[in-house]
Amino acid sequence: MTVKEFIPSPYTKSVASGNTRYKSPSNIALVKYWGKKENQIPANPSISFTLNECATVTTLSYRKADRPNDAFSFEISLDGKKEEGFKPKIKTFFERVYPYLPFLKEYHFEIETSNSFPHSSGIASSASGMSALALCLMEIERNLDPAMSAEFFNRKASFLARLGSGSAARSIKGSLVQWGEHAGTEGSSDLYGIEYPYKVHSVFNDYCDTILLVDKGQKQVSSTVGHDLMHDHPFSKQRFDQAHANLSKLRSIFEGGDLDGFIGLVESEALTLHAMMMTSRPYFILMKPNTLEIINRIWAYREATKTHVCFTLDAGANVHVLYPKNEKAVVEGFIADELAGYCQNGQFIHDHVGRGAQKIN
Ligand code: DP6
Repeated sequence: MTVKEFIPSPYTKSVASGNTRYKSPSNIALVKYWGKKENQIPANPSISFTLNECATVTTLSYRKADRPNDAFSFEISLDGKKEEGFKPKIKTFFERVYPYLPFLKEYHFEIETSNSFPHSSGIASSASGMSALALCLMEIERNLDPAMSAEFFNRKASFLARLGSGSAARSIKGSLVQWGEHAGTEGSSDLYGIEYPYKVHSVFNDYCDTILLVDKGQKQVSSTVGHDLMHDHPFSKQRFDQAHANLSKLRSIFEGGDLDGFIGLVESEALTLHAMMMTSRPYFILMKPNTLEIINRIWAYREATKTHVCFTLDAGANVHVLYPKNEKAVVEGFIADELAGYCQNGQFIHDHVGRGAQKIN
């Protein structure tokens, strides 16, 4: 598929007004997206577990204007409170998706959004937020073109979500979602995420992810700036090659239920992501002392108990603790007893792998 296929033919129906609501999850990358080209094209393919509890619910109300607006007309609120601060990001998103959603200037929109996770918890809301908004917009497009297939709907939702935030492309459908072209993955694309098409062992079903909120403050360096620093980075080529190789290795790991292989690959990806930050110019560190304390505790506990608990990191100080469902009772005990003390206000969120976004009526 090329971008042209996402430019619609003239619509067959017209709709004056309505509203639509979607709940869309966050996701946690196993092979990380870090570095991008023009137009939100990833520098390397990535894959993530879809989360279940960490999600955004967005309601989009729309009303046709008497004549097309010159500019985009919208209001946005978070938890019932108008959020002027979100407007520039949404405006940029609308500008990027306008060629693919030509109805955007014909309507006035009210966007009401709320997150299931605590405010400023440091959990990225861009993946869940942008995917929820993309799905609502696709719902409008489906009203204008009712013949659209479900497959195209999801694919274009992911395509649009990507233009809002790269990782959002992986938050539409499926438990394990890959985004970015990879020679070993049939159907993979830089333009949208796909459900992982190969066999996945049942040990990965309902895999658990407890998110330890180590630092809820504002990050010193945004992901946008971090991605940008991968241009002219001394190790970028090796890093991008490594991501491709790791995706290839994951195929047999997933198929065979190779938990040791999984742990080694996932932890290495997390540390490589942060190594890229530390070796950028300018360099920066997003981990905090407690991030390292937690990592060391996880390693010691895994060694002592022979459980399969491991960690991954996103672009911040928080730690995602990953473990199979059959170890849930013991690992949750370990988290409460030994790790919660390293979290800000003792806060953590138990989550697990989900299936993707849902329409809510
Ligand atoms: C470290 O998707 O937030 O979480 O495309 O600029 O919005 P933008 O970046 P974003 O980057 C996420 C980076 C990451 C790794 C990942 O999710 O793959």
